[in-house]
Amino acid sequence: MAKINSNFAKLTAGYVFPEINRRVAEFSQQNPKASIIKLGIGDTTLALTESVTKALHEKIDLLSNKNTYTGYGAERGEEKLREALVTKYRDQYGIDLKATEVFIGDGAKSDSSNIQSIFSADSVVAVQDPVFPVYVDSSVITGKTGSSQDGRYQNIVYMDCNEENGFFPELPAEHVDIIYLCSPNNPTGTVATHGQLQKFVDYAIEKKAVIIFDAAYSEFISDNTLPRSIYEIEGAKSCAIEINSFSKWAGFTGVRLGWTIVPENLIVDDCAEGELNQAWNRRQSTMFNGASNIVQAGGLAVVQNPEEQQALINYYMTNAKHLYQAFSELGYSVFGGKNAPYVWVKLPDGVDSWAYFDILLRQTNIVGTPGAAFGKNGDNYFRFSSFASQEDVTEAIDRIRKMDKDNE
Ligand code: MLT
Repeated sequence: MAKINSNFAKLTAGYVFPEINRRVAEFSQQNPKASIIKLGIGDTTLALTESVTKALHEKIDLLSNKNTYTGYGAERGEEKLREALVTKYRDQYGIDLKATEVFIGDGAKSDSSNIQSIFSADSVVAVQDPVFPVYVDSSVITGKTGSSQDGRYQNIVYMDCNEENGFFPELPAEHVDIIYLCSPNNPTGTVATHGQLQKFVDYAIEKKAVIIFDAAYSEFISDNTLPRSIYEIEGAKSCAIEINSFSKWAGFTGVRLGWTIVPENLIVDDCAEGELNQAWNRRQSTMFNGASNIVQAGGLAVVQNPEEQQALINYYMTNAKHLYQAFSELGYSVFGGKNAPYVWVKLPDGVDSWAYFDILLRQTNIVGTPGAAFGKNGDNYFRFSSFASQEDVTEAIDRIRKMDKDNE
């Protein structure tokens, strides 16, 4: 008799963005004339760049010709793309990697969940709170947690991030095996320093824990004193996996492409160098047939034409700057938005973030993301995404200023 995976019943809420879409659809149905501005999900809005578009077309032409057609690709991903990423890490960050340490996948979200499969099923997961909910929900689905109590799952270690600690956590006081760190952080938009990451790397080495470092927003860092890769930190190759994405960097949210680095000398308890790299290779070659070869050709064009992608980033970061400025001028405490595309706004004391979501939608027709969706410590905060058009952001700021004045 088949039974449903009972862990799904432990999940206390649906995934946040479908829930937001549901509320917005309901509102739009009741208010068909409302002109909605979406600053909720971090979904890119600018078109693919010229070289990427060209590369995608060219790959389709090759596949359309019997003489140049190719089927299954290399298990770890196209070698040219992996080599291009190795070159990027070497030239931009001074990090030496081997192409066999780089695995091309269909995005950071899936890899950040699936990577758990190479570690023992009873691993204790630690997450920052506020947290990108995928790390938590995937831990629940894979049976690593108990049920939820007071908004937190048993057997997950929540590392508090708040204004007092600059939204970067202290080392966990209890035993943990898998530590998720996200920098630039989603949702707070803050970026971990070398010193902060060094503490975690030293801790992971000592405890034989592993860090899953989600660097999906690394291209948005403009401050050169901040690390863009965990491997800029001494010792990280022996204790950290890095996950990254073309989604926000190159507008691939719908195209789908990402990469994961599993260093050959990464070790945890009871495992030799190379074993985890092999395990991820085994997992991917068994349960994933590689990212689309068309998309990988687009990815290669991204890596080879960074200046084109930089123009997209500059565009979104101008939005972030305007949002940051506007909320600051209105007297809110504002975080992020300088080296990350998310602006994290502290709501007035006692204002619940889902309540604010509804007020904002009703009074201004703007969609944002309630901080509570990212964990307990997000309760009193609200996240704005800067991946909208500049016209929409300007209009959103006007509407928010007006709302603030009207509510005075
Ligand atoms: C976000 O807005 O946090 C991400 O873009 C959403 C996601 O990847 O699901």
